[in-house]
Amino acid sequence: MSDPVRFLNAFAHSLGVMTLYPEGHPSREKAVDSAFEELDGLTTAGGHLPSFTFLEDEVVFGRERLRELKSWDWGKRLVGAGIERVELERKVTREEFNSFLQEVLARLMLSTIDTSEARQMRSFGIRFGAVGLHEQEAIDFEAAAPLPLTTLALTLGEEADTFRWLHAEVQSGGRVPLLEAEAVVRSLSVAMHGDSRMLLPLLKLKEFDQYTTTHSLNVAVLAMGLAESLGCRPREVRAIGVAGLLHDIGKIRIPLEVLTKPGKLTDEERAIMNTHPVDGARVIMQSDEDLGMAATVAYEHHVMLNGGGYPVLHYTRECAMASRLVHVCDVYDALSTKRPYRDAWPADRTMLYLEDRAGTEFDPELVTAFIRTLQQGHAQVRVLSDESPSAANST
Ligand SMILES: [Fe+2]
Ligand SMILES: [Fe+2]
Repeated sequence: MSDPVRFLNAFAHSLGVMTLYPEGHPSREKAVDSAFEELDGLTTAGGHLPSFTFLEDEVVFGRERLRELKSWDWGKRLVGAGIERVELERKVTREEFNSFLQEVLARLMLSTIDTSEARQMRSFGIRFGAVGLHEQEAIDFEAAAPLPLTTLALTLGEEADTFRWLHAEVQSGGRVPLLEAEAVVRSLSVAMHGDSRMLLPLLKLKEFDQYTTTHSLNVAVLAMGLAESLGCRPREVRAIGVAGLLHDIGKIRIPLEVLTKPGKLTDEERAIMNTHPVDGARVIMQSDEDLGMAATVAYEHHVMLNGGGYPVLHYTRECAMASRLVHVCDVYDALSTKRPYRDAWPADRTMLYLEDRAGTEFDPELVTAFIRTLQQGHAQVRVLSDESPSAANST
């Protein structure tokens, strides 16, 4: 005996699991299996083919309100992604259901974009999309044209300028201008969603003294991409973006000759360098109470999963999820960038490095999700051409 509530819970669970595990992973396949079994039971049990309508805080099955799902927050998420209705046109196979789940997930990942133009989709026997559109303009998913490879000509010049200005403000005034930091992040988020699949607009370092700018913008983009693919809500994604943007802000206190030193740092210089997480957290905390997550991330972004790294924590504890997430993105971007003392690592070598240290330095689930985000996201790399001064060393 199947019931719609059990199906919806299994459906939501599958979407969550799919953000963490690749196709073929036993956990993912098991979650899809049980959701499919519930759906199959529903299709066989009732006289009608099942249909669901999602409202902001209500779910309707056929014509019946599902009161048990009053606080089920997936309804909101689906509506936010332009999915207000899901209806079966016929009994579907496990494979068709799996394709449908992938489509829903892709739309959830893009949910920060304006969905006012959301069209109805038909994916292998299941129609879904906005309410009221389901008889018009149905798109045959299989026949849809392939996605264009690139539609954006990004320069990120303005975002880079704003970040340099923000950096100078912190240096002179000792406070982080929150509104401008958020504006940079919003603008990066728009750049990430200008296409039908998520883009990762990354900057490539041209001048060594541009490192802080390119690195901070890249870590913000990568952290938002990862947070989004994990199913975080748009507000959380932007907060993580701000935290990524500001993670190295404590470097403003480090002398330029240490930051830009081409060779290996002495022990004394290393000790100076290692003060940047604490200094960064302090400057952020003094600036704005709303930046609590960014302060935590600045403090913890060099702490490893096994407690190594710096600053040394007085007792072993797990760092915040946002810190563990930024840590992965930070190391990825640092290694992918040419430094005065070494060449840029190619992406596959950097990914291997992350995988090797998953479980000791990095959160293994985040490494898996990050690598998948990079493979699925459409990375666009631009060379930052502006010559304004800014500086840094290592991660
Ligand atoms: Fe750092
Ligand atoms: Fe960094």
